[in-house]
Amino acid sequence: MSSGQRFFRFLQERIGLDVASVGAPMVERALRQRCAALEARDLDDYWLHLQQSGQEQQALIEAVIVPETWFFRYPESFTALASLAGKRLAELAGMRPLRILSLPCSTGEEPYSIAMALLDAGIAAQAFRVDGIDISPNSVARAEQALYGRNSFRGTHLDFRQRHFDESEQGHSLHERVRQQVNLQVGNVLDPALKAREGSYDFVFCRNLLIYFDVPTQQRVFEVLKRLIHEQGVLFIGPAEGSLLARMGMRPLGIAQSFAYVRQGEVEPAPVSKPAVALPLAQAPAPASLSRPMVIPVRRPKAVMPKRVPRAQVADPSSELLAQIAQLANAGSSSEARAACSRYLQQYPPSAQVFYWQGLLSDTAGDSQDAISQYRKALYLDPQHHEALVHLAMLLDSQGDSAGARRLQERAARRAERESDQ
Ligand SMILES: C[S@@+](CC[C@H](N)C(=O)[O-])C[C@H]1O[C@@H](n2cnc3c(N)ncnc32)[C@H](O)[C@@H]1O
Repeated sequence: MSSGQRFFRFLQERIGLDVASVGAPMVERALRQRCAALEARDLDDYWLHLQQSGQEQQALIEAVIVPETWFFRYPESFTALASLAGKRLAELAGMRPLRILSLPCSTGEEPYSIAMALLDAGIAAQAFRVDGIDISPNSVARAEQALYGRNSFRGTHLDFRQRHFDESEQGHSLHERVRQQVNLQVGNVLDPALKAREGSYDFVFCRNLLIYFDVPTQQRVFEVLKRLIHEQGVLFIGPAEGSLLARMGMRPLGIAQSFAYVRQGEVEPAPVSKPAVALPLAQAPAPASLSRPMVIPVRRPKAVMPKRVPRAQVADPSSELLAQIAQLANAGSSSEARAACSRYLQQYPPSAQVFYWQGLLSDTAGDSQDAISQYRKALYLDPQHHEALVHLAMLLDSQGDSAGARRLQERAARRAERESDQ
């Protein structure tokens, strides 16, 4: 779709979306839907509508975003958070509550999981607050409603559902006690207004967003995130986003499968306790600071031509399949992602990236042995594969092989250094 390019550019400028990350067909489908909804004659006619209506711009954005999320996604990160939060509160010594940001928060499962994890760890309600921001007003409205269906509860450890939800015919409704810990807002990570919150947060969750951006946008967002996080703060990201952070001067905290990063030279990993079970829960009124959500205006960035040719234009079938694997894995569709990996390995020569994905999928499913073997295959093909080095190091460390882990971390650091010299 040659005339699709101006829409791709619009989405890139407005929300940072790199169309290659979700695939052009997905965006084209959204365009067809919006044309049909407006009864536009063709794409030229739809382009005019889009230019004239802020409401239509928002509708197109809603049609292309990927709101996929669920409670306690990557459970180890919440266990790590609870442990690190206790340590941070001790450092703060009552000076102020902990501040945590979930950006993007989608339909609320992530910020509410943060609140549940901290309450379950015995942290008093007035000792922390969570901000949730997402570009999608629909998702934020659903988060405010806090009524969830089956898809939001995945995996086998669902005991939190009994503690924090009431079940009805409509679904599972989250208790007010958890809801009041979370401020929800509509906002764009590219909005310069976010800079005003400099150094505000002890913990920032920015998971499964950077994967949808091209490299310059990732760098720009990363600079914003770095500013938002307190110097000793921790950034939690998605499993596929680690290599970017390592390149940008962050280092993994070394807590397996938590995907937690700090600035180089910052705090040592805190000891991580077992997953929180129903500890005595502190009863406290809502903190006075919890006000109504402030709406960050979604500004229209200047119309600048992208400096590079969108990857969608030049992608070959093998890189398209790789992008599809990344998208499926990051959307939590593990079996489909695995099937796509197998398809890739049948059709194309062995690829370090595909073995890395297989490793990550096994890692996330808790099959450490297979994950180790897959990461090793990736490193056999590409000894400098950064993500495979970092993830294998974390796994070896969690299994007590700290010397092996250190060697891999050093290799990863040398590679990052070489890249930053270039
Ligand atoms: C896959 S969800 C991730 C939700 C959650 N962090 C998680 O990992 O489960 C991606 C979210 O990013 C939001 N999003 C996309 N572009 C954004 C932007 N420029 N600013 C803020 N949110 C954005 C989408 O609306 C969507 O809800």
